[in-house]
Order: sequence, then structure tokens, then C-alpha cells
Amino acid sequence: MKIFIETYGCQMNVCDSGKITHLFASQGYQPTRDSRSADLIVINTCSVREKPELKLFSALGRYIPLKRQRPELVIAVGGCVAQQWGEKLQQRCPGLDIVFGTHQLDHLPELVTAVRQSHKALNSTDFLDCPGGLEVMARPGAGAISAMVTIMQGCDNFCSYCIVPHVRGREYSRASAAIIEEVRMLAAAGIKEVMLLGQNVNSYGLKASGEISFAKLLKLVHEIEGIERIRFTTSHPKDMSDELISAFTTLPKLCPSLHLPMQAGSDAVLKRMGRGYTAASYLEKVEKLRRVVPDIALTTDIIVGFPGESEADFQQTLSMLEKVGYDQIYSFKYSTRPGTRAADYEDVVADAEKRDRLARCQGLQDKISQAVLLAQVGKVAEVLVSGPSKRGEDEWSGRTPESRIVNFPAPVSARAAVKIAAGDIFQVKIVKAFKHSLRGEVVVDAGS
Ligand code: SAH
Ligand code: SF4
Ligand code: F3S
Repeated sequence: MKIFIETYGCQMNVCDSGKITHLFASQGYQPTRDSRSADLIVINTCSVREKPELKLFSALGRYIPLKRQRPELVIAVGGCVAQQWGEKLQQRCPGLDIVFGTHQLDHLPELVTAVRQSHKALNSTDFLDCPGGLEVMARPGAGAISAMVTIMQGCDNFCSYCIVPHVRGREYSRASAAIIEEVRMLAAAGIKEVMLLGQNVNSYGLKASGEISFAKLLKLVHEIEGIERIRFTTSHPKDMSDELISAFTTLPKLCPSLHLPMQAGSDAVLKRMGRGYTAASYLEKVEKLRRVVPDIALTTDIIVGFPGESEADFQQTLSMLEKVGYDQIYSFKYSTRPGTRAADYEDVVADAEKRDRLARCQGLQDKISQAVLLAQVGKVAEVLVSGPSKRGEDEWSGRTPESRIVNFPAPVSARAAVKIAAGDIFQVKIVKAFKHSLRGEVVVDAGS
């Protein structure tokens, strides 16, 4: 039996798809990249904006007709669109066998078995007190050096534009003991870098009585032998505690990079978004972080054209980009999400204006990103090798602790070519900056 999985959306969805692969591997399903040879097709969806949501419908348009040649093919849709639409999705798309919600991932194997027996469409989208699937541990693939670990799920912030709290449910933190056990298992399997995941990863534990804080959890992960780099995402600015900021100095394995979504630079817009901080208090956190980790690499999310955003408001977003000097930004045109508060807001910004603001925002950031990368030239960075670079020819690729991509040729030492494998760590001198990556040369000891 073969399983084909298509994934949209955030890293949590990517992680969830890994768990689904794992659940079905124990039932004898092999993953395939060819949808036409699959016995089971799973589409793991995202509804954060209209665009990823629409991808589902074109995917179903491709996959449902495959049932004509393969009547035993089962098609399942999970993730955030599945959660939002429930059985309505099956009414709209005849031939879709299973709709499973964001708390029902671990039930998918049973649902598939039931559909194979009954040949009737099924859906399972209830929210649970403890989201099912959080404790499913996916084994890393052979040779993997990085792994993602979901430590919390859901969100209670209800930013006015955002569908996530509606489709992922209430904030839920896993038990720290289970997280530590999972990271230990990963380290024993050769994983060197862990990415701790959650919709608001830094509010981990705040609402779970008796649970440790996120900063303390980081300390426990830090003690695990074999783990050399720790990252986490996504952090909410309002929950960037002093304890967490100082963890960047006390925990050397904690990488100096942070994704800190700002969304907008105007206080009036931030207020209507319901973000719980101002531009000044956001900048204060950035300054605190830079005081303890001067070289920390920051990235962010920006929404342009939120209802009521004036040109002057937008200029404040641009000004924040200049002030912070992010490595990279992920910027989006505001997309109305049915059921959210902002869907009823007036003063919508015309699409042409949104497009123009997005282009200006990205144009400015391209210059800032280039300046940030150019400033790395001449420095020596520690690079964790992720694998051969796309160019091949004994070229390798890896990331610095700041998560910057560095490509470099295999070095030749005084005696012979140095053997390289994913997971190796090299000191690399940065010699050139490109738009999104750096080029370097391994610093080889004279004696090696
Ligand atoms: N939990 C994270 C982000 C979750 S969604 C946080 O609090 O920041 C990822 C990003 O999608 C958001 O940061 C936001 O920039 C963007 N996004 C969310 N809803 C959106 C919408 N309705 N329109 C456009 N972008 C949106
Ligand atoms: Fe969405 Fe806001 Fe929650 Fe982030 S904090 S997931 S943007 S509601
Ligand atoms: Fe998308 Fe759901 Fe993630 S809406 S961004 S897949 S939490």
C-alpha cells in the first residue's frame, strides 16, 4: 500500500504530515511522490489566507478523478480547512472520503479502515480537551539532522484577522516530560538540531497548572546530549519574557535567531488587529534582545492593507523595517477570513493598493536583507551541514546559528580532500553575499 501526502501551510502542518506518514508506516504504507500510484491520498490544508485555502480545491480537482482508474483509492483532507468546513467540504466535493480535523490526526488510520469497509464518506472534526496527535512521535528519516517537535498547539489570542484560533482550538501545552522524552529519542537517533513548534511557542506552559515555563523547558532540552542547536517558532511579542530573553545568553545551544511577528508598525492598526503591543513596546523587546545577543538575526511577518490602514500607517510599517533590520520578512496582503472580527471591519483597502504596498514593502526589505547579508562577508561562521548544495559538484550547503544559508565547496586540506556529511559542523569564512544566501570557504587548520 502507498500513501501520498500533500501539505500546505506552516511548519506545524509539515510536522503533522510527518506524523501521518509515521502512523501509516506502522500499517504497512510506504510513502510515494506519485499520486497516481497511491492507495491513500492525504491533503493537509491551511486556511490562514484565501490563497492556500483555494489550493485544496484545485488539488481535489486533480485527485478525485484518479478514483475512476483506482476505485479503492481513499482521499482524506485534514488540517485547518478541514476543521473549518467539516462535512460541508464533502457536500461540495463528492468523492472526498474523509474529512479529519486538527484534533483528530491520530484517528486517521481508523477512519481509513472504516471507509474501506463501509465505502461511505466519514468526517471527524470535534475539538478535544487534549488535541489528538500531539503525542504521536514521528521517527526521523535516515540521515536526518534536524527535527521538529510540536510542544503546544492552538491559540487564545484571537487577533482580529486570524483564523488560527478558530481552526486549531484553544491553547494546549504538552507535558514537559513527554517533550523531553521525545527530544531524547531524537538525539539518540542522530538528530542534532531541534525546532520546537507552537502557534505561540513562547506562551508554553502559561495556562497549564504546575507546568514549567518555556524558558525552563529550553533549559531541559539544552541538557540533552547530542542536541547541538535549539530553535523555536512562532513567538508572540507580548510573551517575550525577560526570562526567555536571558535564556539566549545562558544557553549556548539556543541559536541566535528569532521569528517575531510584528504584523504592522502603526499603533492604530496594531490595536485594531488586537495584537496587545505597540510599535514602541515591540522595539523595546528588540532592543533588550540585541543588548544580550547583539548579533541575533530577526525575521518577521507583515500584513499590508489591513482594513483602515492608511498610507501614513503603512509608512510606519516601512519605518519599523528600517529600525529593526530584519534578515528576512514574510509579508502578505490582508485576506478576509470568514468568521473573524476583522471580516466585519469597514474601510477595506483596495486590492490594487494592497498589491502596491506589498511590492514597496518587499522592495525595501530586499535592500535591508542584502545589507544584512553583505555585512557577514569576512566573518567566520559555524555552519551545520544540511547536505549537498543544489549546484552539486562537491558543493555543500548548511546554516549558521543565525539560520543563514551558506554554500561552500568541499575543502582540500594540506593532505587530502576533507570528507563531508550532513550533520558535520565547519568553521566557514564568508566570502560573498547573494540575495538569499552566503558563499563561504571552510577554514582548514594547517595541520588537518
Ligand atoms: N502565531 C503566529 C502566526 C500565525 S499565522 C503569530 O501570532 O504571529 C502566520 C502569519 O500569517 C501571521 O503572522 C500573519 O502575518 C499572517 N496572517 C494571518 N492571518 C492573515 C490574514 N487574514 N491575512 C493575511 N495574513 C494573515
Ligand atoms: Fe493568529 Fe494572533 Fe494567534 Fe498568531 S497570535 S495564531 S496571529 S490569533
Ligand atoms: Fe495555516 Fe493552520 Fe498553520 S491555518 S498557518 S496550517 S495553523
